[in-house]
Amino acid sequence: MKKYNYEYFASCPSGLEEILSKELADLGASTIVIVRGGVQFEGAHEVALKAILHSRIASRVFKYLFQFDVSNEQDYYLAATDIKWKSLMDVTHTFRLTTIFGDLPFEREEFRNSQFANLKLKDAICDYFRHHETVRPSVEKDFPDISFLARIDRGQAKPYVATIMYDLCGDSLNQRGYRVAKIEAPVKENVAAGILKLIKWDPETEDFIDGMCGSGTFVIEAALMAAGIAPSFLRVDRHLHGSGQKQWTFLNYPWLTKDEELKASFKKLLEDISESTIKGVEKLGKMKGRISGNDISEVSLISARENLKKAKLDHVIQLSQADARVLNPNKNKTLFICNPPYGERLEHGEDERLKALYQGLGDHWKHNFKGHRAALFTGNLPMLKVVGLKTSKKHILYNGDIECRVAEYNLY
Ligand SMILES: C[S@@+](CC[C@H](N)C(=O)[O-])C[C@H]1O[C@@H](n2cnc3c(N)ncnc32)[C@H](O)[C@@H]1O
Repeated sequence: MKKYNYEYFASCPSGLEEILSKELADLGASTIVIVRGGVQFEGAHEVALKAILHSRIASRVFKYLFQFDVSNEQDYYLAATDIKWKSLMDVTHTFRLTTIFGDLPFEREEFRNSQFANLKLKDAICDYFRHHETVRPSVEKDFPDISFLARIDRGQAKPYVATIMYDLCGDSLNQRGYRVAKIEAPVKENVAAGILKLIKWDPETEDFIDGMCGSGTFVIEAALMAAGIAPSFLRVDRHLHGSGQKQWTFLNYPWLTKDEELKASFKKLLEDISESTIKGVEKLGKMKGRISGNDISEVSLISARENLKKAKLDHVIQLSQADARVLNPNKNKTLFICNPPYGERLEHGEDERLKALYQGLGDHWKHNFKGHRAALFTGNLPMLKVVGLKTSKKHILYNGDIECRVAEYNLY
């Protein structure tokens, strides 16, 4: 077994790594290294807790546990049975295991199937417990007590290197807990927050309108940012006042349960989040009208209203129903964001309708948004050309598997 080089890894949607690294640095992380799809970092355990509770961009936070060289799957199994799994989980805990392949040679005889590698590691854990405790723990896919991630990469001493990590979160962090109503093609919560940071939205100096708010993701993320409300606020609320269902898997890990100092820090972090949520909602009350959402569709607006209600922000954020091509900016400098339909259905005539929509937005901004800013987020890359405005900046990022662009426009 080798010592891993970093203590933690935070994953994020591709394209947001740089933004995530800044966020983690602000939370106290050190020795930050950006890799595709995430950021490696070091820091006191409290920094990892802060990342879980306060990062708007991270999808998950992992703690590195072990790294070892292996030649093939059988070798992997044998090396894994040497790990003292008892120190990481109890036999009564249910667990989930995910194996991913990182940088591997294209042509290879071993490690051709990540499911098979996953099975080998699961067998190693179960056989370890059978040997030491006569019983084996159960696997649970949806609500496990413990969640591990294993990653196989190209090795040095042997052809492959395996890295085992604790997934400290369980459910992905972008699941804030407010999305109770969905529409087609919603933007992920952390992608929306990341876009607001990428385009440097400053709530103190710019009002915010989402002209095609769909289920309300951008408006909710904008409101949370403007008010300084932690993205984990609903999970924290459920942890403190809910039915007892655990909101993060790290609550079961000796990483927390055996560390009195960390437990005290966690308690304090939760108290601070509850307090800042109350203050944040008060602040939003005073900002009425400065952050708003709009959509042409009644169905989308119903889902936005439900999600705002779940986020307890329905009384501070206004929604309207209109075509985005007739909306005007506020008196204050305004950032106007639009995430138009991508044209996922490719129905007959859809392409022409989309062209009219994107071109109409461009024309409308050109004539009515002088002195303001606009941003388009879309997975339909050819449509950006149709807008007919000069972009001041473009960013590439992924919403799930879809390659998207954020185009920024400074309108003079
Ligand atoms: C891709 S969805 C937006 C998803 C949203 N960002 C979310 O996270 O739920 C596109 C939205 O644009 C709306 N829309 C389409 N044409 C519109 C128009 N001309 N004006 C306003 N909204 C429009 C649709 O009703 C739909 O809700």
